Amino acid sequence: MTLPIKIAPSILSADFANFGAECHAIEAEGADWVHVDVMDGHFVPNLTFGPAMCSAIRPHIKGTMDVHLMIAPVDPYIDAFAAAGADIITAHLEAGPHIHRTLQAIRAKGKKAGLALNPGTGIEAVEYLADMVDLVCVMTVNPGFGGQSFIAAQVEKVRRLRAMLGARPVHIEIDGGVTVATAPLVAAAGADVLVAGSAVFKGGSATNPAPYGANIAAIRAAAEAAR
Ligand code: DX5
Ligand code: ZN
Repeated sequence: MTLPIKIAPSILSADFANFGAECHAIEAEGADWVHVDVMDGHFVPNLTFGPAMCSAIRPHIKGTMDVHLMIAPVDPYIDAFAAAGADIITAHLEAGPHIHRTLQAIRAKGKKAGLALNPGTGIEAVEYLADMVDLVCVMTVNPGFGGQSFIAAQVEKVRRLRAMLGARPVHIEIDGGVTVATAPLVAAAGADVLVAGSAVFKGGSATNPAPYGANIAAIRAAAEAAR
């Protein structure tokens, strides 16, 4: 299954005082999805946004709001993120004992369900969840912070995952350390959605958005050339 390459800038690297304008800027500059990293200071060692912030930026996003929940527990917050306007809600396999129930709950809200895997987690569990997910997010850094280095051992995981998913139209999303140098590795292995924070936002701002466009175009071109 070859799905078109999508670039999903992570607003973790945006100007936190200016999210509305930053969302307009990245979409105008070619972003396919807007990736929102929700962190709880417990599942990961950092704190970011909650559902109120997602509601606040939703009117500033024309396309897909891709919400990555790095929180535990997840289930008590699914309704709130759905009501906040998330299009995709991704939960971590490692966040609790009942990921199957979590994915069911996300789909029951009419949202696309994503399953995220930490770098140390294998793909075996996906075999039993493959028909309940719209997206599998392969973390290519340990979640919690932007600007970390890509973990190259995850490329083989992507290749095995794409083979396991077969003809299913499930997105494989890569999150962490995506650059023009690493995007080709994961695109060749079968990934189609590339989250990028620092590599998209570097050099630009909401009032000088052209670098965002150049960065997005460069990552996309590198990924497409590798397929
Ligand atoms: C990490 C987050 C990522 C992060 C990516 O926990 O899930 O989305 O923002 O940032 P970069 O692209 O800078 O590695
Ligand atoms: Zn993320």
